[in-house]
Amino acid sequence: MKAVAVNPGKRTVGVIDHHAPKLSKSNEVKFRMIEVGICGTDREICCFDYGAPPHGFEHLVLGHEGLGVVTETGAGVTTLKKGDLVVPMVRRPCTSPQCQPCRAGRSDFCTTGNFTERGIKEYHGFMTEEIVDEEQFLCRVPPELRDVAVLMEPLTVAEKGLDQLWHIQQRLAWDCAVEPSKGRGHCHKAVVLGAGPIGILGAMAFKVAGFETFVYSRSKTPNPKSELVESFGVKYISSETTTPAELAEMVGNIDVIYEAVGTAKISFELLQVLGQNGVFIFTGIPGFPKPHVMVDAELIMRNMVLKNQVAVGTVNAGRVTFEAAIKDLGIFMQRWPDAVRALITGRHKLEHARELLLGKATGIKNVLTFD
Ligand code: BGC
Repeated sequence: MKAVAVNPGKRTVGVIDHHAPKLSKSNEVKFRMIEVGICGTDREICCFDYGAPPHGFEHLVLGHEGLGVVTETGAGVTTLKKGDLVVPMVRRPCTSPQCQPCRAGRSDFCTTGNFTERGIKEYHGFMTEEIVDEEQFLCRVPPELRDVAVLMEPLTVAEKGLDQLWHIQQRLAWDCAVEPSKGRGHCHKAVVLGAGPIGILGAMAFKVAGFETFVYSRSKTPNPKSELVESFGVKYISSETTTPAELAEMVGNIDVIYEAVGTAKISFELLQVLGQNGVFIFTGIPGFPKPHVMVDAELIMRNMVLKNQVAVGTVNAGRVTFEAAIKDLGIFMQRWPDAVRALITGRHKLEHARELLLGKATGIKNVLTFD
């Protein structure tokens, strides 16, 4: 079976021969991969900055944004059947009895750090023809979402960010209480930093949650991403022509900043213009090594205290978040089908994986297809 793998010891990336998996337990499901998305994390792993092969292997099969179709189920599987579309979750729990999050099915909050992540950390990923996994880690996707369901995993980043936001803002019990039917965020403003897939999907999620939403990103307007963002009613503002202070002037009180760029400099510049009672959500993972960034820490600290601000980081996603992503992707497809489809800018055969992973990043979301 073919697979796309990285070998950090030999510093190689490419298509390899990989063993075909078999069902060995009654709770397991076999599925054939349909598509796998490529993201910044995959590209970092291919620069040997991040990620690790499973114990006993020199290589790691890449891929954590998967979509597959079930081909076989173990005798104990109750929720999935042959032909179902599935999106697999990424993280697998650690084994420590003391790790309460992992024991509670929330390995995205693992306390030991000994979790594994498919295609990233010590567990082979989805860039291969067939996969076997446990039923509990698979999310069934409605057939009408088949052509965009590969976007589910990146959307979970925004969904978990929103979930964290709702938890934090329970402190503002009176918030947006007048017209709740307009969405929990309808009386607030959100700025999404970055117009990659995580940013654009985030902008859609914030818009659906009712926020007046803005995307702040580098490229000058008009450009394909600004046009895409504005096609679903979100204002795009370029950091080339508008400073963070000017952005804050335009927007008014910035209630939420959702960071989706993975670089500290612009993120901390924006943190300085976060509004009263605001929440800053970090989702990006800066690569290393990077030059140190100078920030006005006194100003940030003063603002955080005097304006009741919260900065929160969020990584990975549990089942509830995947379920929320399935629901929201369905809503996006009802409201903005062309914009959602336009996020997938390239579908490629396995043979092109190497250049996609190592070459200059192009388009919005590139996908490998196995059909
Ligand atoms: C993945 C997450 C993962 C994180 C850190 C991201 O690209 O989407 O599932 O937890 O990388 O490894």
